[in-house]
Amino acid sequence: MKEFEKDEISPLSSLDVWEDDVLKRYPEPGVPAKTKDEFRNYDSPEIDSVREFYRLNHKYQTYENVLAKKENFLKFDKKELPWWAAMEYLNTLIDDSDPDTSLDQLQHLLQTAEAIRADGHPDWFVLTGFIHDLGKVLCLFGEPQWNVVGDSFPVGCKFSDKIVFPEFFDANPDSKDERYNTKYGVYTHQCGLDNIHMSWGHDEYLYHITRQHLPEEALYMIRYHSFYSQHREKAYDHLLNSHDQKMFKWVDKFNPYDLYSKSPKPPVVSELKPYYEDLIAKYLPDKVAL
Ligand SMILES: [Fe+2]
Ligand SMILES: [Fe+2]
Repeated sequence: MKEFEKDEISPLSSLDVWEDDVLKRYPEPGVPAKTKDEFRNYDSPEIDSVREFYRLNHKYQTYENVLAKKENFLKFDKKELPWWAAMEYLNTLIDDSDPDTSLDQLQHLLQTAEAIRADGHPDWFVLTGFIHDLGKVLCLFGEPQWNVVGDSFPVGCKFSDKIVFPEFFDANPDSKDERYNTKYGVYTHQCGLDNIHMSWGHDEYLYHITRQHLPEEALYMIRYHSFYSQHREKAYDHLLNSHDQKMFKWVDKFNPYDLYSKSPKPPVVSELKPYYEDLIAKYLPDKVAL
């Protein structure tokens, strides 16, 4: 595999910069959306880093990349930890963002989960909120940011122009490869998402980690929570089957908690830990193999 330079590994000062960008793109209902011009047309190092992040993501997320990452990471031979320790391990992902204004990973996960709990949803839904970004440990295993976060999308078929920064796909070799650059590529009409390779990232990775243990609704939330071109733009209806369409209602239910639960008041981890330890014990094995 190609070796990447430091600036190709971490174009963003923090993974949150990507999430903040998604939030600007899809603001909470009731909050006026910025026009495209307001949104991108001014100079800011942060916006430049988001562009650079997507340039790399769209160039390197090929069909071949996805197969290679699955081959490597789905062996789960990197690390084995009790679940809570794995969440703390994720929290060692410290980046260059401003510590006064940004939440750490565990705080984001607890805020997401607590917002789900406050609305009275089932406990597996709360647990899903709590662990949904654990796959970001990929960064701690040396994966470039564009192989960990970013809007996810199918590979092996034409890249939709509904994906953010579609012009950057021109540099992706798959867009010139006739096996992969047609509407269906290697797939067939409404063949179902289970038969499709998504771009590699924290969503797909955690799905494979949890697939034996959580209800199917939870697995859809985990696996497709960054698939904005489908849940917001319906760009891949020709690949989803009717079961996917039904299950996507859960992805839609989950998404606002991920995007809109961020509050400046950090949760008190020590107070919440016993409740989440119990939830983990109810659904998940003692240890997680990463
Ligand atoms: Fe995520
Ligand atoms: Fe998240």
